[in-house]
Amino acid sequence: MSARRRVWVTQPVFPDVVDRLRDHFDVAAADAVTAYTPAQVADGLRDVDGALVGVTDRIDASAIAGANRLKAIANIGVGYNNLDIAALSAAGVAVTNTPDVLTETTADFAWTLLLAAARRVTEAERWLRDGHWTDWSFERLLGRDLHGSTLGILGMGRIGRAVARRALGFGMRVLYHNRSRLDAAVERECSARWVGKDELLAASDHLVLVVPYGPGTHHAIGAPELARMKSTAVLVNIARGGVVDDAALADALQKGRLAAAGLDVYENEPAVHPALLACRNVVLTPHIASASEATRRAMVSLAVDNLIAALGEGPQAHRPPNLVNADSLLARGT
Ligand code: DGY
Repeated sequence: MSARRRVWVTQPVFPDVVDRLRDHFDVAAADAVTAYTPAQVADGLRDVDGALVGVTDRIDASAIAGANRLKAIANIGVGYNNLDIAALSAAGVAVTNTPDVLTETTADFAWTLLLAAARRVTEAERWLRDGHWTDWSFERLLGRDLHGSTLGILGMGRIGRAVARRALGFGMRVLYHNRSRLDAAVERECSARWVGKDELLAASDHLVLVVPYGPGTHHAIGAPELARMKSTAVLVNIARGGVVDDAALADALQKGRLAAAGLDVYENEPAVHPALLACRNVVLTPHIASASEATRRAMVSLAVDNLIAALGEGPQAHRPPNLVNADSLLARGT
């Protein structure tokens, strides 16, 4: 029987990158995209030392109850609300994520959605493909300008700041709200001004959401917040489903209390609220904000580095570059 340690790769991801794990471990890699049941996750984790997981794989206390060998989970994603960090820390399981490598690609995509929603691009294309274009009308498919308008950003971490920097090219005024105010130098670099959340909602012509999801940000944008926004505003969510109350958003879009929205994430994804699917003034994409070839490869590569290091191998042994829960090491006694 092999004495090598074992890792589980839960989803098919760039086999040439994942192969680097084979220099150190026996690897069981999924060959098909899988929506695991809790029992399947528990089964997959039972006899492994580490796992490389995607942001749709949910791992909680019950998933690791029988995982006596498990020492590390490398999440391929910057957001890790799929993982119960408290339970993993208590069990001495190190958790890592993939920040930085996706910042610019994800910020690009916020602008993709914002431009598409404000200028009604997908709606216009649907109309054209459906054969309606028989004449040219001056007043057809009128959208909202970005240049000269006010951009609001909720959540001013790395991605929020990258979104803000791009606003300069559009000549926009940038407001942001964050739990803590940025250093004056960073505010200057992003040409952004901190405001309270209510002011952000009321003053933004376009509002981009980039906050992490957790109990404190559940339905950060619900019916009361939507009511404070301009009826001409465009809302973009590249953060996480659950930050927005999807039913309340669909209602506001249908009743003309909000001009348009661009969404990459949803409360119950991959299921999308039927009322959103029925709205013509919303651009919907399937959680692809970080999905450029180069960035997705870089994310997997970083997650592989993290897993190798967290399991005590390679040049960064025991010093994974993106450890999320330093307290797991205490629980482990290392
Ligand atoms: C992340 O990294 O959190 C994205 O949502 C998945 O690419």
